[in-house]
Amino acid sequence: MAWQLLAGVLLLQLAASAAGQQQCLSATFQNGQTFLKCNPLPVLGASLHWTHHAENGTADVAFRAPQQSSGWVAWGINTRGTTMPGSSVFIASQDGSGSVSVLMTVLENTSPSLTNGSLSFDVLSPPTADYTNGVYTIFATIALPNNSTTQNTVWQAGPGSTGNVGQHATSGPNVQSMLRLDFSSGQSTGTASNSRLHRRNVSSSPPPC
Ligand SMILES: *[C@@H]1O[C@H](CO)[C@@H](O)[C@H](O)[C@H]1NC(C)=O
Ligand SMILES: *[C@@H]1O[C@H](CO)[C@@H](O)[C@H](O)[C@H]1NC(C)=O
Ligand SMILES: *[C@@H]1O[C@H](CO)[C@@H](O)[C@H](O)[C@H]1NC(C)=O
Ligand SMILES: *[C@@H]1O[C@H](CO)[C@@H](O)[C@H](O)[C@H]1NC(C)=O
Ligand SMILES: *[C@@H]1O[C@H](CO)[C@@H](O)[C@H](O)[C@H]1NC(C)=O
Repeated sequence: MAWQLLAGVLLLQLAASAAGQQQCLSATFQNGQTFLKCNPLPVLGASLHWTHHAENGTADVAFRAPQQSSGWVAWGINTRGTTMPGSSVFIASQDGSGSVSVLMTVLENTSPSLTNGSLSFDVLSPPTADYTNGVYTIFATIALPNNSTTQNTVWQAGPGSTGNVGQHATSGPNVQSMLRLDFSSGQSTGTASNSRLHRRNVSSSPPPC
């Protein structure tokens, strides 16, 4: 009985990750862009799609996540650690008329100023974003920081609109949204930093991103 249950759970998990991967690979993008690699991200229903150019250390990235129209999503890289401060992020939001824009900012602390500016790595063309059927997609071409294929990636979602980006939840999935990702192989080791955070007690840790 227990065996059957375990096998059932494992099968379900396999099916879920296969479904996530399938969903990932069959994703299409409004501007017709395609990406060679993709990872379903473990929380917030998000996925990351990218093409890594090993010859010059750059990556074309598309971050996709569901959100209400009165909310924002963000993706970025933390060059300093695995929590929110130090993260360079792209934040997509919309104004009252449904026009989507992207803000680029380095989060100074857990109450960041959200000044639209430059990041701690090169962004090679102006980022764009769209919002379709309740899903945001942020497009960016970046030079991987320090020309390293492995990066601490962070993502987030919260309430608000352009010019009025509200605070995200500070528990649950919103503090598990980080992954150390190898842009070359696609391998990720998210559980390492997440489980460390869990052991330290999630509710007392600073939220990522
Ligand atoms: C990097 O390489 C890719 C693929 O060859 C190319 O499309 C892109 O323009 C290059 N980027 C830079 C900044 O040289
Ligand atoms: C990054 O590394 C690649 C591969 O080693 C190299 O070809 C490229 O010139 C480097 N880019 C920069 C900006 O240093
Ligand atoms: C941030 O600045 C860029 C470049 O000026 C602009 O295109 C973008 O719309 C701005 N983002 C927001 C949210 O205002
Ligand atoms: C950049 O990479 C070098 C070589 O791997 C490493 O020693 C250095 O600490 C890295 N710097 C940063 C800021 O990550
Ligand atoms: C985590 O911290 C909260 C609030 O400080 C506390 O109520 C909770 O018992 C702690 N959980 C663990 C597992 O230490």
